[in-house]
Amino acid sequence: MFSDFTNSKRLVLPLRSAVESNRFGINVDRLNIPQRSEFTDYQIADLCRVSDADLIILRFPKDRGHLPNTISTIEHRNVFLADNLVYYSRAIMKPEFASGASSGFGFEIADNRRREAIENFAQIVFENYGSHYRANPKLDRGAILQGYMEWALSGLDNSKKISSVVLDQSERIVGFALVAVDGEIAEIELNGVLPEYQGRGVFGLQMEWLNSHLSSRCIKKVVISTQSENLNAVKAWVKSGFQFEFALLTYHLMKT
Ligand SMILES: CC(C)(COP(=O)(O)OP(=O)(O)OC[C@H]1O[C@@H](n2cnc3c(N)ncnc32)[C@H](O)[C@@H]1OP(=O)(O)O)[C@@H](O)C(=O)NCCC(=O)NCCS
Repeated sequence: MFSDFTNSKRLVLPLRSAVESNRFGINVDRLNIPQRSEFTDYQIADLCRVSDADLIILRFPKDRGHLPNTISTIEHRNVFLADNLVYYSRAIMKPEFASGASSGFGFEIADNRRREAIENFAQIVFENYGSHYRANPKLDRGAILQGYMEWALSGLDNSKKISSVVLDQSERIVGFALVAVDGEIAEIELNGVLPEYQGRGVFGLQMEWLNSHLSSRCIKKVVISTQSENLNAVKAWVKSGFQFEFALLTYHLMKT
């Protein structure tokens, strides 16, 4: 999450990801390198060398220009760029008027009664989502989609997460955002709009509603991220007042 990359004092160690290991049937380690980390490229490569995971998912600030070269020399690892992530943010402002009221859509924080609808929504919206997992031919496509479906549901049983939904007049979910709250910062971990509703400003309406909701919870800032080539997402964010924060690269290091 966002704070993994902004807290330069965070302990940097490869961590076994039980969820991803179970999902893909191989051992998966995660290693996130914060901005302004004191770790050198050689130390990071050494951390990868000692990991016994089948797959290491390594994320680091894009401006660490030499790190890709350094990790490419690790023995018995197939090392490749899996995605280029961009983080954007905007301030949460005191709302001047009730948002979304005249749009014809409904807005709510979903609970367990929407479980099946959220699962179905995620299956449609993330079926072909171009994530770093899809850059790895060794990872099963069905398991990747299942992962997005499980992730979308994770807000229903977690008091630190919010499942925000936009409903049409027949109460069908047309927009969804999974928001994780970390102190005064909220991170939109996952969001989407049904294909037939995309390009109609649903994200902007949802963002205004979320702004009011997050403002009432004393949250000061909201952050969001996606792959740099996801231009529809970036256009929607800029229209809603988000600004670029930083870029990360995700590398996969597969055991050969
Ligand atoms: C990213 C997303 C949430 C944006 O929501 P939205 O309600 O469609 O946003 P907007 O209506 O403001 O559209 C944003 C821009 O993308 C364009 N766009 C959106 N969907 C489009 C589509 N299916 N085909 C072509 N263009 C599209 C819009 O025309 C608009 O561009 P413009 O500002 O030049 O007019 C939505 O497109 C989506 O669900 N994408 C798939 C999932 C995803 O990528 N999620 C984000 C990361 S988890």
